[in-house]
Amino acid sequence: MNSSNLTWGGCDVIELARKFGTPLYVLSEDIIRARCREVKKSFLDKWKNTAAYYASKAFLTMAMARIIDSEGLGLDFVSGGEIYTAYKSGFDMERTLLHGSAKSDMEISEALERGVGRIVIDNIQEISQVADVAESRGIRARVLIRVATGVEPETHKAMRTSYTGGKFGISLVDDNLEQAVKLAVSCPQIELYGFHFHVGSMIYEPDAHVESAGVMMKNIRQLRDSIGFETRELDVGGGVGTARSPTEKTPEIAYFTDPIMTRIINDCECFKLPRPKIMIEPGRWIVSEAGITLYSVESVKETGSFSEGRAWINVDGGMYDNPRPCLYGAKYSAVIADKIDVQGTREFAIAGHCCESGDTLIEAIKLPEPKRGDVIVFYNTGAYTFSMASNYNRMRRPAVVLVKDGKAEMMVMRQSYDDLLSGEVMPEHLNNLMSRR
Ligand code: LLP
Repeated sequence: MNSSNLTWGGCDVIELARKFGTPLYVLSEDIIRARCREVKKSFLDKWKNTAAYYASKAFLTMAMARIIDSEGLGLDFVSGGEIYTAYKSGFDMERTLLHGSAKSDMEISEALERGVGRIVIDNIQEISQVADVAESRGIRARVLIRVATGVEPETHKAMRTSYTGGKFGISLVDDNLEQAVKLAVSCPQIELYGFHFHVGSMIYEPDAHVESAGVMMKNIRQLRDSIGFETRELDVGGGVGTARSPTEKTPEIAYFTDPIMTRIINDCECFKLPRPKIMIEPGRWIVSEAGITLYSVESVKETGSFSEGRAWINVDGGMYDNPRPCLYGAKYSAVIADKIDVQGTREFAIAGHCCESGDTLIEAIKLPEPKRGDVIVFYNTGAYTFSMASNYNRMRRPAVVLVKDGKAEMMVMRQSYDDLLSGEVMPEHLNNLMSRR
């Protein structure tokens, strides 16, 4: 190990790149566990009658499910594939929930049969759908109803999920919510525990969560007064952001949960309501900073007087292993693994391997002079990279390794070319059709 190289989980990242190849996702088990413990200390232990579900869409493998299970947190799912992954890992399914605005009968059925703890119903039609599937399976569905609280947090438009008239949840217009609750309560196959909201993602101030909690408490009181419905559970979602650059700070989880809890407790006192169980669903906050991505420099291209003289660093990854810069203009910080103490000399743009101009991972970053073969490390890539990776341009999805105490273990293997062909079938009439050479 070279003492001036960057290390992660006690491992020299240049050695990791040599051993496992690049691009490579590297996750620190200690950082994931530290975040889970922070949730326990600052939320679960601090406030009674609470629960925390890691939003598995941020990053899920069977090994990740094991880590979350061993820390005692729950899991939130949005698809049959996520349910299956956790189930195969041996996760305690009682501590899970299923979301989604377009659940299939099959997914609802899988959730019921595998014992998923709560199904979060998105809309009025879905109440009947869940009731029908539950009846056909002879299993009572334990549900929450998702509400669009009408609050819009400050974040990218694509990450606001609770506005009125949006694709998620029941909007609070007319008596929509009361109708939904009446319907759910009238279905013998359904047991309604309460409500869920998720205001959005990459949020740095708690105002939108607190305001939404207030909106929900008002509705919870109204539902008690009008139809005598007693809310036992309120899930306030996830959405806490993480630092995007070395100068930005990641908010503490309590920076969000404390004011949310205070608001709910005050409103309960004021409205003479018993406090419901409060659940949270952090995704990015748990896993993002545990992850880094390693790329190799393929070439450095000078642009002369073009692009303000900014040179391109062409790396072997790109939008196929991290589509976030293209999708949301997401910003990342990066270093050259063996030059972490060297001052940057000039600005570079970092371009991905995919065949389109939009595949630029970083528009402008000051780095020391890079050369072919250097390992470039992107920070804060644990969330929504591997889980959103694709095979665009028939690129092979990179491997994921888990590092801890100087030891690196494979979590997911790099796809092979044959993996890319798996599932492909040659239609019979093309079978004998070879080129006439
Ligand atoms: N709960 C629900 C119902 C959600 O929809 C989400 C995220 C979460 C919890 C977790 O949110 P987090 O704590 O991770 O912000 N692909 C985007 C993020 C989309 C998040 C969708 N829902 C990205 O790459 O930033």
